[in-house]
Amino acid sequence: MHRAVVLGTGSCLPRRVLTNDDLEQMVDTSDEWITSRTGIHTRRIAGDGEQNYQLASQAAEKALVSAKVSAEEIDLVAVATLTPHMMMPSCACFVQTEIGAKNAFAFDLNAACSGFLYGLDMAEKYIATKPDMKILLIGSETLSARINWQDRNTCILFGDGAGACVLTGAMETTRTTRTTEAKQRGIVASNLYSDGSLWKLLYMDSPASRNPDLLLEERNGCFMQMTGRDVFKHAVRAMEKAALDLLDLQQISIQDVSLIIPHQANIRILNKLTERLGADQEKVFINVDKYGNTSAASIPIALDEANRQNRLKQGDLVLLCSFGGGFTWGSMLIRW
Ligand code: COA
Repeated sequence: MHRAVVLGTGSCLPRRVLTNDDLEQMVDTSDEWITSRTGIHTRRIAGDGEQNYQLASQAAEKALVSAKVSAEEIDLVAVATLTPHMMMPSCACFVQTEIGAKNAFAFDLNAACSGFLYGLDMAEKYIATKPDMKILLIGSETLSARINWQDRNTCILFGDGAGACVLTGAMETTRTTRTTEAKQRGIVASNLYSDGSLWKLLYMDSPASRNPDLLLEERNGCFMQMTGRDVFKHAVRAMEKAALDLLDLQQISIQDVSLIIPHQANIRILNKLTERLGADQEKVFINVDKYGNTSAASIPIALDEANRQNRLKQGDLVLLCSFGGGFTWGSMLIRW
């Protein structure tokens, strides 16, 4: 059996740091309120030369170096994003040109904050049938352009950035027994879910939309809209259930997991999730304090930081969990 293995990772954060003190000058809020409710201290905001595809391309180039793979060897460039550079062409096509991945086909996918997890699942399915394929998967967002900077409910939460990884098929073991299969590197299993009926709790309308599903007063341009409390409850419950179901199905205990990389939405969501999974706090990777919620970029940025900090050793079991607009959510186990 071939498994999809992560060969290398990369990330890119914009230069500009926006602090809670800066936000105090912009809306009626305080560092104390933001820190205690979200755990966020700073977030990055894209500026000149840092459009979505440019951040994505820089993250991709670092992932290629880390994977020791050239751009020409890449067969597929996929970008998970809800803030593409343009509606058409895809952000992935811009990245393809920027990095010179001239032999690849390229497209975007949108599953909001779960986009990167959905992308990993898709990459695994490609690799299952074409193990030689080299896939460059990127999660990249410039959410700052789609935030109402006068809305204190949302503007404190989000940030910009990009993360990437290169995947390919793992070498097939010649005689696969249950033990060798269990130890085999790569994506072990995943579960993905969606519930479109709850979309109004977290949404972003299209620019210049004539969307008949929205009342006139709900068309506030095209900014992020959120019912924070409800999103909070759904996020905790959904990620908990997805992760526990996956572990149960794989007959893996949470104690066997070396590192948990959840979508970085909010420290209180992460703490509740940790508690409900019965996981040790030090096994949960956290960088939401530095970058806020970067949506589809959050898991790949965290994955890259964990990788570069040597928190991922070969053979370790890594658990990813995500939740986002749609709603979309899921979890994944990777043997690093
Ligand atoms: N600064 C100061 N006060 C603020 C504020 C801010 N930035 N944002 C909201 N408030 C106020 C509200 O207006 C409200 O005031 P009121 O009681 O006078 O009406 C009060 O704080 C409480 O608001 P509420 O929305 O109930 O706060 P909360 O405890 O639920 O925290 C969130 C708000 C957004 C931090 C929290 O609901 C949350 O984290 N939700 C999940 C968001 C998320 O992760 N979304 C993305 C998922 S992928």
